[in-house]
Amino acid sequence: MELKGLILSGGKGTRLRPLTHTRAKQLIPIGGKPNLFYVVEDLVEAGIRDIGVVISPETGDEVREALGNGERWGVRLTFILQDAPLGLADAIRTAQPFLGDSPFVVYLGDNLLSGGIGHMLETYRRQHCDSVLLLTEVEDPRAFGVAVVDDSGRVTRLLEKPQDPPSNLALVGVYLFKPVIHQVIATLKPSGRGEYEITEAIQGLVDRGLAVEALKVRGWWKDTGKPEDLLDANRLSLSQIGRRIEGELEEAQIVGEVIIEKGARVLRSTVRGPAYIGPGALIEDGFVGPYTAIGKNARLIASEVEYSILMDESEVLRLPYRLDSSVLGEKVVVDGSGNTRRHTLQLILGDRSRVKL
Ligand code: DAU
Repeated sequence: MELKGLILSGGKGTRLRPLTHTRAKQLIPIGGKPNLFYVVEDLVEAGIRDIGVVISPETGDEVREALGNGERWGVRLTFILQDAPLGLADAIRTAQPFLGDSPFVVYLGDNLLSGGIGHMLETYRRQHCDSVLLLTEVEDPRAFGVAVVDDSGRVTRLLEKPQDPPSNLALVGVYLFKPVIHQVIATLKPSGRGEYEITEAIQGLVDRGLAVEALKVRGWWKDTGKPEDLLDANRLSLSQIGRRIEGELEEAQIVGEVIIEKGARVLRSTVRGPAYIGPGALIEDGFVGPYTAIGKNARLIASEVEYSILMDESEVLRLPYRLDSSVLGEKVVVDGSGNTRRHTLQLILGDRSRVKL
């Protein structure tokens, strides 16, 4: 039976406030593109064409609007409303009518992988196992689901965010399941944090003697639902961006891997890649440094920025500081009014914030 995809794009996003006061965390642009787009692309590349997207009442509409019906990727998207963020296993239970008897891949909408998920599907097809997980070594496993694996690569034990981790192998947010998982989920009780945990559901598969295989992540992995990882994910995705200049240049110095989209203008400015300048953006008398992504119709005038994300229609005007390690939401205005002292400034500002210096 054909594999389906299930993207989890509900939840609360409390860790990314203020950015998530006004938007779904899965739509925060990484390297100039919403995180969710990379997720859809990974599923499509693995040959999955029938994809469900779990959404929440709070941010469901904007997720739906951003993704559309899937036409742009040649796939079918079905949106599934989860009434409350009761956990990843609850999201799967909510999607059961969509999933039916199909095996499926669950992909968390705020996870980002550089190496795709093709090897998970290969393993599933070769070994006919009941579940395939992705693992990676992390420094502090206490922030993740953690797995213990035996010598043959089989998973023997799983724990969600343990205080005392039995290994340094974190569970990455992509999981492949046969439909037997639904039977286990039906028996789950809420965990200590009040959620139906996917980790406990997988433990249930192990306890029933079913085959749960674990693979290592290919390339890098980021959970962009954590603030410290947003800019790092932006850096990683920009570091393989290539060079494509379709915008207008005038006395511009463009160095290294840089994308300048159609309709963007770079006037009397330097852009030092890796960097992304979105369609319609204006960079005038400015400097855009490495690992910066500038959104659609944003404006950077007489100002300098590096290692930052400026979302659509944000404006940085005559700023006497170099913006560094900053995330500006949509339509944010930072107006420095041309004061001349130069320092650096770090700002994490939600949509429509206004800062005057
Ligand atoms: O990122 C990997 C980690 O993801 C794993 O190591 C953990 O085992 C797993 O539990 C999960 O932990 P998080 O605490 O990071 O999950 P979070 O609450 O951020 O939710 C992940 C995604 O799923 C996010 O895009 C929101 C969505 N979601 C979340 C919940 C709780 C839903 O769609 N519905 C929900 O009820």
